[in-house]
Amino acid sequence: MGVVYEAHDEHLDRDVAVKLLNRDADTVAVNQWLHEARAVSRLAHPHIVPVFEADEFDGQPYLVFEFVDGPTLSQALKSRGALPPNEAVQMMLGVLDALAAAHAQGIVHRDIKPGNILISKRGEIKLADFGIAASEYSQGEEDLERPTVERVRTSTQRELTMAGSMLGTPSYMPPEQFADSSSVDKRADIYSVGVMLYEMVTGVKPFPGGFNPQTVELINRGKYIPPQRVDPDIPTIVRRIIKKTIRPKAKNRYQDLAPVLKDIRRYLKRYPIRHVREIMVRNMVTNAPDVTEPQFLPKKRTVLRVALTALALVIAFSLAGTA
Ligand SMILES: Nc1ncnc2c1ncn2[C@@H]1O[C@H](COP(=O)(O)OP(=O)(O)O)[C@@H](O)[C@H]1O
Ligand SMILES: [Mg+2]
Repeated sequence: MGVVYEAHDEHLDRDVAVKLLNRDADTVAVNQWLHEARAVSRLAHPHIVPVFEADEFDGQPYLVFEFVDGPTLSQALKSRGALPPNEAVQMMLGVLDALAAAHAQGIVHRDIKPGNILISKRGEIKLADFGIAASEYSQGEEDLERPTVERVRTSTQRELTMAGSMLGTPSYMPPEQFADSSSVDKRADIYSVGVMLYEMVTGVKPFPGGFNPQTVELINRGKYIPPQRVDPDIPTIVRRIIKKTIRPKAKNRYQDLAPVLKDIRRYLKRYPIRHVREIMVRNMVTNAPDVTEPQFLPKKRTVLRVALTALALVIAFSLAGTA
């Protein structure tokens, strides 16, 4: 849509990212640009890159964002290949937290992909690029009842995306987004999350091969190599999320991110999280890959331990009684 520069705000003495819209942008693009600013400014969230300013200078529309000083996930995947699942899932938690916050505000991102995930040098995960995000609310209708999925189709996004047109990044898009980007709901993001998670843990895309009729056919039929065939060590939780997100029909996917987040949190409980984060920072940002992976902690068998102790006591007392 435009170009992003690293810049320095001299007044506040801080680095910023300045996103410029093409000068020859048409009205639709300018609306889209304003829309991004509004969508992000409504979403104050630790895992969403905050927008500081939206303005025009000499006819040049621009947005100013917080500068994220590390690589994008796309760059990280290029340099590292597949990520250890615990690292991938830990990163995914940040993305999903951000996305769930957007969905709660009625915003569908519509372009979830590694190039739009930024990683700071402190290992913070930040979701960026709400450039084609769609709002479930029409302007001025905020006071009305929460919209249903059907109402989403008749809201503001029509002004931004012509009905029947296609916006997004084909490798990560669900079939319904190919057909008509303006009619998608949060389940489109849920699908893209699955594609991204697949790529994170296997190092390859489920639907490689670019945008051609053969690939679109595979996407429409949901035909991809199961991740466990690429790497049998991929944990069940990751396989399950991938399976229940990359489904061609939206009604067969997870309908909401809440159960995904719940499963992920439960899985991550079994890892020393601080260690996972430290490793992620060293691997992703400083490129010092010589680190030991955190070990999966066996489930604490408290109930079993209490029962065994009780049994031992009973035996001890009965032996003492017979003595
Ligand atoms: N806030 C930011 N801090 C650092 N780099 C950024 C930031 N925002 C964007 N970038 C860089 O610019 C690229 C394009 O930005 P993005 O917002 O995704 O625009 P586009 O609409 O062109 O995809 C990103 O992939 C990232 O490399
Ligand atoms: Mg982008």
